[in-house]
Amino acid sequence: MSRLWDKGAPLDERVLRYTAGEDFALDERLVAYDARASIAHAEMLNTQGLLSDTDLEAIRAGLMALTEEHARGLWRIELADEDGHTALERRLTERVGPAGGRVHLGRSRNDQVLTALRLYLRDEVERLSAGATAVAEALEQLAVREGSIALPGYTHMQQAMPSSVALWAGGFAAEIHDDAEALRHVHRRLAKNPLGSAAGYGTPGLPIDREATRVKLGFAQVHDPVTAVQLSRGKAESELLFHLNLLMQDLGRFAADVLLFYTQEFAFLALPESFTTGSSIMPQKRNPDVFELIRGRSATAQACLAEALAVCAKLPSGYQRDLQLLKFPLFRAIDVTRETLDILPAALAAMRFRPEHIRLDPAIHAAEQANRLVVSEGIPFREAYRRVAAQLKGPG
Ligand code: ARG
Repeated sequence: MSRLWDKGAPLDERVLRYTAGEDFALDERLVAYDARASIAHAEMLNTQGLLSDTDLEAIRAGLMALTEEHARGLWRIELADEDGHTALERRLTERVGPAGGRVHLGRSRNDQVLTALRLYLRDEVERLSAGATAVAEALEQLAVREGSIALPGYTHMQQAMPSSVALWAGGFAAEIHDDAEALRHVHRRLAKNPLGSAAGYGTPGLPIDREATRVKLGFAQVHDPVTAVQLSRGKAESELLFHLNLLMQDLGRFAADVLLFYTQEFAFLALPESFTTGSSIMPQKRNPDVFELIRGRSATAQACLAEALAVCAKLPSGYQRDLQLLKFPLFRAIDVTRETLDILPAALAAMRFRPEHIRLDPAIHAAEQANRLVVSEGIPFREAYRRVAAQLKGPG
């Protein structure tokens, strides 16, 4: 028997494949978190007199060994397990005997998966936020290195006012710092302990101590009432995906500028050969694919948010198996964002501006001239504006 709910009747292989879907692969990243939550749960059962000291020790040692072996790649979740929770309980029981069968008292995979996800997302939010901060810092270094180089500032893609590499890079740096901070707002939704809500309606007849697992797992409060827990699934996910979208959008807009500046017509900047790719037919080409794919991947992040929102919309209350489908878009957007954040600092360190190619239209100072007339002559701005416009037009 491999499924936790297996009572001996055979399961159609096609049903297993369809219902487990990608879960066994997706849950790989939750194994350590699920084991940690299971240890906290077992300790609480022991304190409540529901699990003996010997069984607790066997469960604790077994789960710690399984976590360590999993981290070393010695085992993986199998399709026959259905999901990571089952894989852990099955292996625990194989290792420590009947004590393994005592760990699931007073919980369900429904509160288990939420607990593991929240513990995982707590770490992931920090990693993503630190990754965004590192990109912002790399932009600030670019601003220090090449900041004094003049750039046209564009509106409507027309030269508008004088700008500089410092202003251009500094703007993106500030927004990306802000995105990094916004990501941390998701912690608010990750701060409630789902454990003990079990399938969604608590544990009638059992003295489960939800406050004890809250403290052990570092949650700020118990998620109450139990019926709120399953209603909340997908909300931290969607909020995280939303903030990832804003971040990916900033990175995509930055990439769009780089792609424009890298064209032969602009030639404002150079990228090293190691950061561009070649063409199979045109020997002269050096393509800025990294930046095209940064821009393109913001579409992936957007689709993931749409998918997560759609999975939850219109669901009735209580656990529904649909909720399992949140993990794929969640993990996909996280991975795509992390890969993007990882490549950018190196790409930014390698970027060089080519001031010899950057030409500012002399008329780009027109607004400044009008401003100076107002300051020196005290005339209304509109009059100064017209005077400068007439000067620019010239006689005739
Ligand atoms: N893999 C499931 C999910 O992510 C775990 C919970 C399954 N619960 C159940 N009753 N089948 O939602």
